[in-house]
Amino acid sequence: METIKKHLKTETGWEVINEHYDKMQAITEGSNFMIGNGYLGYRGTFFEDRKDAYVGCIVTDSWDNADGKWEELATVHNALYGTFSFNKTPFSMDQNILDYSRTLDLLNGLTKRGVKVEINDTIFTLEEEKFASMSDKNVIAMKVQITTSKDAVITLESGIDTDIWSINGHHFQKETPFKYKNDLGTISKTNTYEDTIVVLEKNMVAFGKSVQKKSGVHKRQKTISLKANTPLVWTKFMIVTNSNDVLDPLKEAKTIYDSLISYDTVFTAHCQAWEDIWNKQDIQLEGNMVDQVGIRFNLYHACIATPTHKPLPIGARGLSCQAYQGAAFWDQEVFNLPMFLYTNPGVARQLLKYRYLTLEGAKEKAKKHQYEGAFYAWISGKTGKELCPDFFFKDVITNRDIRNHFNLWQIHISPDIAVSVNKYVEVTKDEDFLIKYGAEMVFEIARFLASRVDYKPRRDRYEIIRVQGPDEYHENVDNNAFTNYQTKITFDIALSYLNRLDKGSIRSIRDKIDLTDDEISLWEDIKDKIYLPTPNKDGVLEQFEGYFDLESIVPASKVTERLIDPEEYYGWPNGIAVFTQCIKQADTIQLLHMYPELFDEETVKANYDYYEPRTLHFSSLSPSVYATVAARMNYLEDGYRLFKKSLMIDLMNTNEAVSGGTFIGGMHTAANAAAWQMVVLGFAGFHYDQHHFSLKPHLPTSWKSLQFNLNLLQSDLRFLIDHHQIQITPLKMNNPISLFINGKEVIINHKDVTINY
Ligand code: BGC
Repeated sequence: METIKKHLKTETGWEVINEHYDKMQAITEGSNFMIGNGYLGYRGTFFEDRKDAYVGCIVTDSWDNADGKWEELATVHNALYGTFSFNKTPFSMDQNILDYSRTLDLLNGLTKRGVKVEINDTIFTLEEEKFASMSDKNVIAMKVQITTSKDAVITLESGIDTDIWSINGHHFQKETPFKYKNDLGTISKTNTYEDTIVVLEKNMVAFGKSVQKKSGVHKRQKTISLKANTPLVWTKFMIVTNSNDVLDPLKEAKTIYDSLISYDTVFTAHCQAWEDIWNKQDIQLEGNMVDQVGIRFNLYHACIATPTHKPLPIGARGLSCQAYQGAAFWDQEVFNLPMFLYTNPGVARQLLKYRYLTLEGAKEKAKKHQYEGAFYAWISGKTGKELCPDFFFKDVITNRDIRNHFNLWQIHISPDIAVSVNKYVEVTKDEDFLIKYGAEMVFEIARFLASRVDYKPRRDRYEIIRVQGPDEYHENVDNNAFTNYQTKITFDIALSYLNRLDKGSIRSIRDKIDLTDDEISLWEDIKDKIYLPTPNKDGVLEQFEGYFDLESIVPASKVTERLIDPEEYYGWPNGIAVFTQCIKQADTIQLLHMYPELFDEETVKANYDYYEPRTLHFSSLSPSVYATVAARMNYLEDGYRLFKKSLMIDLMNTNEAVSGGTFIGGMHTAANAAAWQMVVLGFAGFHYDQHHFSLKPHLPTSWKSLQFNLNLLQSDLRFLIDHHQIQITPLKMNNPISLFINGKEVIINHKDVTINY
């Protein structure tokens, strides 16, 4: 056994084991030990738990606005609910626990609990396991096994808990219970979009017919005389269907019910689906078991958070809770997408298609604010309309709302999407996507940017004023380097598509969106004249105009001493970071992370050295960006320190769930997916600069070797890297791949290649 942290272990690098029950950690552990399949997420709670333990089954495409303020995904009725008593003493985790463990089995997407209690001289053992089927997304399966050391009478209750946890109000206007065959279900209708959600249980043991309803639970009972040491097995399925996916969710739920034969058959298909995922996405690490399990833990969560059944966003907290509204931020393209792009491009396509399907929402937003084209929502849910409220945080000293401008000024989300579209097209050569969706999106984004930039005649240049870069503590800034470069690159891409696409396709896209020659000339002009900050005499790019004039506090953490109240917001308009160079998260370094080729290595180092000590890393998105850049520069100590910080954000969390009165708990989905980036783009030094693929590894000393697969230009390659050698094995080749290893070109065709570096 290897220790991850106190009470948290791994045995093989494929599981996280917790041997200490602590009720107070319910928020964090419910997220860390959750199960999911991209369609729904089910928190890592126990079957007898109720809403005070933050039980939650969060379902995609179930947005609803219950309190008139927040649109969020609904948590649905809990059909895995059950209780039992033993010789009339009800079981609970408050009893005298002799032995306890909880395991998240990453290989098989399974969460388990084992507990032993002593009640009136009898030892009573319970084993519970659950999985959200990866092969049948509407199904969660649970198996509970109970054994007693002496003969005993067990009373088991099974039912549906309708009194559920929901952060911002009750989401159902109508709830109708029903019976199907021997089991119970509910049909609920959401308030805003009137979606119908059906939840149905299927017990594989027969329960009594009479249904009781007590404190929101519809339940039935069964009493069993159990012989000593003879296990009682209770298998139960929970089926969830949604009218957004099927015409008749009730009929669909019943059909699924009828098709469920046994726990084992569902489990076998589920494991096969996970095997396919791991075959593509696993990273194998030799030499450090804790890092190994940390990486897999993060990849597991990145996968279960990602809808693959239809184009939908990845929520910033995945499906682990309702926080952040189950909606997409720039996190989706910049943090989550790369792993899928290079390992499972079908998923990347689907995510980008979601952005295409929400193009209308982005156009409406642009129009509302007097711009043209597509201004993507900072927080984007079902339709792409802006979900980010104007008032997000509270000034805890005056108790007044703070007007944040994430929705209006964090415009980089639009070019972030455009450059991701292009990267996807370049790496996959998916011309079909480009013609059907990609070019139109990029043109509409370029159109927006053309209406958003300002021409300054005296300087004969275009500037972008009043924005907010990725660093959210500095709002209302001008010429944020990250935003300006992303904008310029978007114009390069848009203009390149005019030549790259065949004449027929380009004509029909231009006709569709009415793209004129005058607009194209304007794009040309902006491309040539947009202001791109250049490094100062010390090689450092200014994050935005005037940033260098702000008070420099190093290390940035010292600024915290100025807090009057620990809950104070650091940013706009008067927070303690606003008039200093202390930044919330990677901003200029984000640019260098995405485009290391823009500057020479000395400049990248100068920027890293300047900005890292000024960064608070108060966004979970930040450490991975610095870790990746540090690893590439062979700053191994820093790279590894920040890698661990990012990797362990969730595993080391101790219930930090509420900030300024807002629930922010749940999985840090961007950081989860960034684990892949830190390893592959950071320590292995893999990069695609729009022309070449390259590799430049610098492995941490404790790692013996690293193995992962990439899908490039529709070919599959396996990479095995140690401290001296790189072995590349072609698995499925459609195109020869040119790869620059430490600057030297290698062509990979059908044979294994081994290179010393
Ligand atoms: C970060 C943003 C991020 C959002 C959602 C914020 O705290 O500053 O960059 O998009 O969280 O993860």
